[in-house]
Amino acid sequence: MSSFLSSSIGKKLIMSLSGLFLVLFILVHLILNSFLMFDSTGELFNAGAHFMSLPIIRFGLQPVLAGGFIIHIIYAIILTLQNQKARPQKYASQDLKESSTWSSRNMFVLGGLVLVFIAMHLMHFFVPIQITGLGEVASDYDLVVALFTTGTMGMVYTALYVLGAILLGLHLAHGFWSAFQSVGLSNSIWRARLEKVGYIYAIFVAAGFTIIPLYLHFFA
Ligand code: HEM
Repeated sequence: MSSFLSSSIGKKLIMSLSGLFLVLFILVHLILNSFLMFDSTGELFNAGAHFMSLPIIRFGLQPVLAGGFIIHIIYAIILTLQNQKARPQKYASQDLKESSTWSSRNMFVLGGLVLVFIAMHLMHFFVPIQITGLGEVASDYDLVVALFTTGTMGMVYTALYVLGAILLGLHLAHGFWSAFQSVGLSNSIWRARLEKVGYIYAIFVAAGFTIIPLYLHFFA
């Protein structure tokens, strides 16, 4: 078992399973965040955020989520280094451009930028909501609205969150079907189908996470 997990295929499998787990998390997170737009009293979103703070989620699900992210990142680094070693000379760029998409060739860089976004994002919301306390604002909803609406920084953060959503979408556009391919669910018919589902998922997620900060900035 341990030799399988350290083999190239085993590593790709771990990468894919952790990626698919994150795909699910992102969908749930987007649905909960959409409450920000559907109820301007904030009650619905606060109830969702309250649910996320319940001990069963905090101590049960969040460590699993953090583990999923950490495994995904560590294996991304291992696999990228391994691929570079196996291919010391770069392919002629023309060949690569014909046989692969821009997203697929830049997964590591895109993932790294998404990670920078997530680190900033956790400082904005996760830290005050779950660790240090809300400070001057009255609720989780008010905290989120304040970030996107207060002064010049409100505009800057809106732009950064839109950029984060686009980077995440590009990462998911390739990541989604590639993950299914690595778990062995992809022959040529399924590859075409999964690629389509992957693009739809990526566009849905990128559009959703783009619309929310824009909506709050302009209408909240
Ligand atoms: C419109 C954009 C977004 C908003 C308004 C938003 C809001 C929030 C809030 C309020 C929390 C704290 C939840 C709590 O602890 O109760 C949170 C946590 C988190 N967000 Fe986001 N988020 C956004 C986009 C994203 C994106 C694009 C990602 C990337 C995958 C992401 C990943 C996370 C993670 C990993 C956590 C910590 C886990 C958790 O507490 O659920 N978020 N977000």
